[in-house]
Amino acid sequence: MRALLRQLGLALPSTVSVLIGGESGTGKELLARALHEHGPRAKGPFVAVNCSGIPVDLLESELFGYERGAFTGATQRKHGRIDQAQGGTLLLDEIGDMPLSLQAKLLRVAQESEYQRLGGTETLRADVRIVSATHRDLAVEAEAGRFRTDLYFRLARFVLHSPPLRERREDIPALVQHFVGLAARKEGRVVPAVAPRVMEALQAYDYPGNVRELENTIGYAVIVARGALITMADLPVTFLRALSAAAARPAALVAPEPAAPSPARPPAGSGAPSGDGSFPTLAEVEQQHVQRAMERTGGNKVEAARLLDISRMALYRKLALAGAR
Ligand SMILES: Nc1ncnc2c1ncn2[C@@H]1O[C@H](COP(=O)(O)OP(=O)(O)OP(=O)(O)O)[C@@H](O)[C@H]1O
Ligand SMILES: [Mg+2]
Repeated sequence: MRALLRQLGLALPSTVSVLIGGESGTGKELLARALHEHGPRAKGPFVAVNCSGIPVDLLESELFGYERGAFTGATQRKHGRIDQAQGGTLLLDEIGDMPLSLQAKLLRVAQESEYQRLGGTETLRADVRIVSATHRDLAVEAEAGRFRTDLYFRLARFVLHSPPLRERREDIPALVQHFVGLAARKEGRVVPAVAPRVMEALQAYDYPGNVRELENTIGYAVIVARGALITMADLPVTFLRALSAAAARPAALVAPEPAAPSPARPPAGSGAPSGDGSFPTLAEVEQQHVQRAMERTGGNKVEAARLLDISRMALYRKLALAGAR
């Protein structure tokens, strides 16, 4: 993250167009905002347009605005996002999804800093810094003819790549602390500590949803955690299940200690976990609860058995079952 911010710092003082690439949830919008807020245009507006999933006509009028009478229903002039971003920064989010027909009009903005509202004759000056973001590889898109090469070069004068979280696991502890603090403040709770084992698990997971997924995971754990400590039992079952599935794969990066398997795993012989994975099985819940008791008592089996109101032998059996897998 620091390396990325250093790079971002290089682009700060200039108004050159910046393209931010990276998988979903890696913080592309966050970087775009940082670029705006720490740059010379910070006092100007920051305006974001999502270019994906909007019909082309709508996106065009959203971006460029229109004059009165431009089309049926255009009863008065409407300012577009470019108008709104004057003197500031325009974030073109998911630029890779922008229809080719609009790309030509955008090229004029990027190249000439000129544009016209729909139905307008006046040529307007676009005093905007353009920042684009995409989860696609725009160079590949341009090669395949799905993105204008000239526009690509205009937008990608300076390129930042936000790496997936699994490629920068060293960021995870700091992010966890950040999100625990955020969630606790939001819930009006005392900031809980994170058990070392939980931190290990959080660092071992692959996060297909990247930082956003980590943020959601922590948000859940903070709500669920009862005491001043976040334990394994407070992590979402879907997270634990995905983690054990990854651990079961031979090439997985994850290496949990054999004596302390993930509590999400059902005891041996209890059959497969619940079919669609959306609901924990009774065995999984029991395992989590046993684990929780062990953590609460600092691994003291006599105490844990008392807490669970079962015999010591029963607890040994449950732990042995878990350890057998
Ligand atoms: N380095 C970071 N520090 C703190 N929070 C972060 C960081 N990176 C991402 N986040 C948070 O993660 C969430 C997702 O980030 P963001 O929306 O910027 O991602 P994105 O790459 O634009 O995702 P998408 O492609 O899905 O739009 C946000 O809540 C953001 O605040
Ligand atoms: Mg985004």
